[in-house]
Amino acid sequence: MWNDLNALAAQMGERHILELFDEARADDFAVQTQFMRFDYAKTNIDTATRDALLALSDAASVSTRRDAMFSGEKINETEGRAVLHTALRNLDGGPVMVDGQDVMPEVLATLDRMAAYAEEVRSGPITDVVNIGIGGSDLGPSMAVQALSPYRDGPRCHFVSNVDGAHIADVLRELDAKTTLVIVASKTFTTIETMTNARTARAWMLDGGGDPATQFAALSTAEDKTADFGIPSERVFGFEDWVGGRYSMWGPIGLSIMLAIGPDGFRAFLRGGQEMDHHFCSAQGTENMPLMLALVGIWHRQVLGHATRAVLPYDQRLGQLPAYLQQLEMESNGKSVGMDGQPLPVDSGPVVWGAPGTNGQHAFYQLIHQGTSVIPCEFMVACDGHEDDLKHHHDLLIANCLAQSEALLRGRDLDEARSKVADKFEGAELERQAAHRVFAGNRPSTTLIYPKLDPFTLGQIIALYEHRVFVEGVILGINSYDQWGVELGKELATALQPVIEGADVPADKDGSTRALVSYLRTHKK
Ligand code: F6P
Repeated sequence: MWNDLNALAAQMGERHILELFDEARADDFAVQTQFMRFDYAKTNIDTATRDALLALSDAASVSTRRDAMFSGEKINETEGRAVLHTALRNLDGGPVMVDGQDVMPEVLATLDRMAAYAEEVRSGPITDVVNIGIGGSDLGPSMAVQALSPYRDGPRCHFVSNVDGAHIADVLRELDAKTTLVIVASKTFTTIETMTNARTARAWMLDGGGDPATQFAALSTAEDKTADFGIPSERVFGFEDWVGGRYSMWGPIGLSIMLAIGPDGFRAFLRGGQEMDHHFCSAQGTENMPLMLALVGIWHRQVLGHATRAVLPYDQRLGQLPAYLQQLEMESNGKSVGMDGQPLPVDSGPVVWGAPGTNGQHAFYQLIHQGTSVIPCEFMVACDGHEDDLKHHHDLLIANCLAQSEALLRGRDLDEARSKVADKFEGAELERQAAHRVFAGNRPSTTLIYPKLDPFTLGQIIALYEHRVFVEGVILGINSYDQWGVELGKELATALQPVIEGADVPADKDGSTRALVSYLRTHKK
């Protein structure tokens, strides 16, 4: 299968994407649902390539694995867990079985409990909420609260993640301890950054005349540990180990979103995710948006070898989406052994990065257009913004988004570049100047276009990317749901802490680490 794709890539050679365009391509190489359109016509995928990619997904049994995931099989094989974040948005409530038990009554009861608590907080004296968490217990809610800020009618939400004291100090400095609710969000309730910040927040609240006994809530799978921390069970919202941290914003970890936009808005977000689940489970082949998004990703990374992909939302409120997707994609698919413990025969997932347009245009697009590496770009844009009195801004935003993908596709050849400066230069200087103005073009991009960034749409976008990660992981034969690669650094940090505080440097430390500790001892006040 990989050989077929490699042969197609070799055959493709220098072929220009523009050569592929005929009357039908724009619709044929797009997936449109009732709610959004994903365009991948501006990639160098032709019908033969797409067939080979689909054959690859068939050979990997993507649909069988998908059904296994949705039905609660323990597809997270290294941890022996089911992968059922989809159950958190299964508002229809059909049974989802884990170990012979339907988990839906508990899921829906927790959602109702969250809603009742959110209403209580939203109608009370609380003005500010501080969500303390990191990774999946921070990036999703923080991203979504910003994305959905036009819908916020509840308290202001703030997010503290870094163990760097600067983070919590800067956030708390602005707040009144008497009217602040602190949410400690941690699946394990052991994460050192979160627990350190939670203790600091508790001390701050006591100092400021607040009451941690009533103004702290916890979101976790470890209810014994939340009790040890002193948070009463009525303000603990639990979930199960079959919800991975980076997939957890659909349940209790999303409490800050619910506090900000209200239970109805949160349910609309869940319905968006559920809509994408239904689509993913029912749409066939080229009609299936997550599948096609994943196959485009596989083509660019594993076949053509492009090491990174840029996520470029032309949507200021999706400013945190690239960071969110970094965790979702890189923690899930940044692995070099397969399920079987053997080295992967192809590259792992790519580096994911990006920033909102148009800001990025004035920063790093230079390299995207004229650098020596090809960076597949994933554009996103809404047909309408929320600022009805600023529609001309939005038109300009869309024009820029479409212009960038067109520029990447089309480029500018030497003749055209020459003609741009022919009135200013001549001879050898004209040639030199023109060379700088050439754009290679033929650079791939995709565009996701949706009506408006509302809760329902955001839910679809996030679920779309989750399923993309799933499909890519299945094709690579890896476990997308563990994260052993974060462990070593955590262990070494724990061991180094006493050294930083003054203990002897263990003999097994390398020379560089010893030298850094020595510098620290000389200069640290
Ligand atoms: O260290 C990585 C990680 O385990 C992520 O997978 C997770 O989202 C994050 O830490 C936070 O974990 P927790 O929610 O258990 O505090």
